[in-house]
Amino acid sequence: MIKQATQIALDAGEILIEKRAAGLTIEHKGSIDLVTDADRASEKYIVEQLKKSFPHHGILGEEGTRVEGSSDFLWVIDPIDGTTNFAHGFPYFSISLGLLRGDEVVLGVVYNPVTKECFAAELGSGAFLNGERISVSKIETLHESLLASGFPYDIATTKEDNIKSFEIATKVSQGVRCLGSAALDLCHVAAGRLEGFWELSLHPWDIAAGSIVVTEAGGRVSGCRGQKFRPLGHEVCASNGRVHDELLALLTGVEP
Ligand code: IPD
Ligand code: CA
Ligand code: CA
Repeated sequence: MIKQATQIALDAGEILIEKRAAGLTIEHKGSIDLVTDADRASEKYIVEQLKKSFPHHGILGEEGTRVEGSSDFLWVIDPIDGTTNFAHGFPYFSISLGLLRGDEVVLGVVYNPVTKECFAAELGSGAFLNGERISVSKIETLHESLLASGFPYDIATTKEDNIKSFEIATKVSQGVRCLGSAALDLCHVAAGRLEGFWELSLHPWDIAAGSIVVTEAGGRVSGCRGQKFRPLGHEVCASNGRVHDELLALLTGVEP
């Protein structure tokens, strides 16, 4: 299944690059939440391919796909994670395909078609970047860490705006990047390029695939207050494991 999922992600990546070169149609889903014709074309392609290869599997896609399967497998897909970057020509976005069996993520593929980096992991088999095994970093403290986070689309109105946590984490670490693709951010934790990443107000398609890449690379995922990670939930705190408790203490100590 990982071979098929990887091929589908690579082909969807080609669609994104072609669409971007041809010129995009950009619409607003919310005041700062964009969607392009490429998001829809990528999802359509991915769903067609998944249906062909796995006719009994369910599919949940950001751009509206809801396929009820006749097995306990569910694909959770984001046709472009990082649409704002994509629409601006900022080269940090990805295609994210996660596969759940019941409540558990069993496979994840995250592909950046600009850098041509493809992250993949299968339960119990390790995590890979373009076929080479990857693992999380060995850094032990937040003081030595490079972190990433992000802000919700309703930042202007929500109380859970993540600003206070971002401020504190920035002051105790070597920096907190706000890069714009949660799926890729998770994979950079897996590859040892970041020590930690957290974000609230996300969706299953942002976090399912990347979460297994982190855990299979030896890292840890949880909710932002230390609760069990839920792939069909809305938040994630991911790390190399070594800085996890320190990061959770910081996030838990912040008043919303
Ligand atoms: C977004 C990205 C971004 C995160 C947003 C997500 P989208 O996904 O993952 O990094 O900060 O919360 O919604 O909308 O580009 O698929
Ligand atoms: Ca997304
Ligand atoms: Ca998306």
